[in-house]
Amino acid sequence: MHDSLLLFGATGDLAQRYLFPSLHHLLRDRLLPDTFRVIAIARSAHDDDSFRAWLRDRLDGDDYVVLEELLRRIHYVPVDLGDADSMAASLSRYADRPAVSYLSTPPNLFASACRGLKAAGLLEAPSRLVLEKPIGHDLASAKEIDATLKSALDESRIFRIDHYLGKAPVQNLLALRLGNTLFEAVWERRWIESVDIIVAETAGVDGREGYYADYGALRDMVQNHMLQLLALIAMEPPAAMDTDSIRDEKRKVLRALRPMSAADAGADSVRGRYRDGVVDGHAVKGFDAGGHDDVETFVGLRAWIDNWRWAGVPFRLVTGKRMPSRTTEVVVTFRPVTHWVFGAGEARRARPNQLRMRLQPEETIELGLMGSLAASEWSANELQPMSLDLAMLPPKRRIAYERLMIDALKGDQTLFVRDDEVEAAWRWIDSVSAAWRDARTPVHDYPAGSWGPVEAAPFLPRAVTTQNGRKA
Ligand code: BG6
Repeated sequence: MHDSLLLFGATGDLAQRYLFPSLHHLLRDRLLPDTFRVIAIARSAHDDDSFRAWLRDRLDGDDYVVLEELLRRIHYVPVDLGDADSMAASLSRYADRPAVSYLSTPPNLFASACRGLKAAGLLEAPSRLVLEKPIGHDLASAKEIDATLKSALDESRIFRIDHYLGKAPVQNLLALRLGNTLFEAVWERRWIESVDIIVAETAGVDGREGYYADYGALRDMVQNHMLQLLALIAMEPPAAMDTDSIRDEKRKVLRALRPMSAADAGADSVRGRYRDGVVDGHAVKGFDAGGHDDVETFVGLRAWIDNWRWAGVPFRLVTGKRMPSRTTEVVVTFRPVTHWVFGAGEARRARPNQLRMRLQPEETIELGLMGSLAASEWSANELQPMSLDLAMLPPKRRIAYERLMIDALKGDQTLFVRDDEVEAAWRWIDSVSAAWRDARTPVHDYPAGSWGPVEAAPFLPRAVTTQNGRKA
């Protein structure tokens, strides 16, 4: 296990909210090596003491002793990532042992940071490089970044983070699918009518306006998190749970996504942007994209996977900011029963089976079935929808980054995204973005606190919008 972490973007939002708290927890649980050290790197002119004081104010202090221990292990180095020579000069002394360099920075800094790290000797084997999403802005820029990375180190030492893969409930999707005969036997077009993947957030763009105006929900959420969820749900069962078996299968699914054409953009997509509204009882402002009118905070897509297993089954992907409630769900809707033997009255009550896997904020699994509780022995069956509910109550949920940091320090790439997966995902996203451009797909307004623009209704399963807050 490597014991030296260089954290770029150390004063950024992600570092404050997740990366340092994750290290704090890992240290508390004694999961880091005794010799573990962090080199915190950002532009600001701190020294060790002032950075530690700054960080101390931002980390939750309920475990004071461990927090102080973490702070003692942190050294701060101010660096300009745009200047490879000065980077090399300030950082080469940390090439004394194998390191993990973690770039929690905007993607336009990846290439120069990589050159600086290489010059500092910090990418020599067995050192590793971790990158935050998004990797580029489209396929071409992702390939450029990748070429720079590959000039410094090989794929086996590049760790592309998608923090959704570090979430335990996301891993549970695999357990559920592959650990049970019940589901895998019907996991295909003959029995499944549609799949919905919903990632709704109550949070807004909140301080990331500049980034968001360039990326929008399509690039911020769909290109990575949502397509990774889709890939885990739709992939063929891997022969083994090792790193490349899973990534090979995910890549195949991503490559089978049918590119969106301008002719399909109207029927298969919808975009929205939140305006002023009310979320959780609080008035919130609309997203101000600073004159970039062509950017969405909500997107609904109908994706088609052109292979034997999924031909003709729509995968609806919906994500939005400032929704009425926070929920990440996968809803698998099965086909209606093949031959209905009950009366016409019962047929009206019939609901197709539905498997609803809620990943956050709570983890629940719900299987919608039809049954009969009301019938007496001699009268007709009275069918009614009922559901089998399973609330998962794990003893302790970790921040997704805790797991991913440990894996990166140990060198396990299973939960990181491979170069060809990133490319396949961008290829599809580029087709959507080109289809929007050519079809002039509008960005509709929606009030903050609603389930997106009215045009989004066909993309949202009723069960989700009614259970998680009133449908707007
Ligand atoms: C990030 C996006 O990758 O994921 C954010 O950049 C988004 O815009 C976040 O809010 C959602 O993550 P989670 O773990 O809160 O569902």
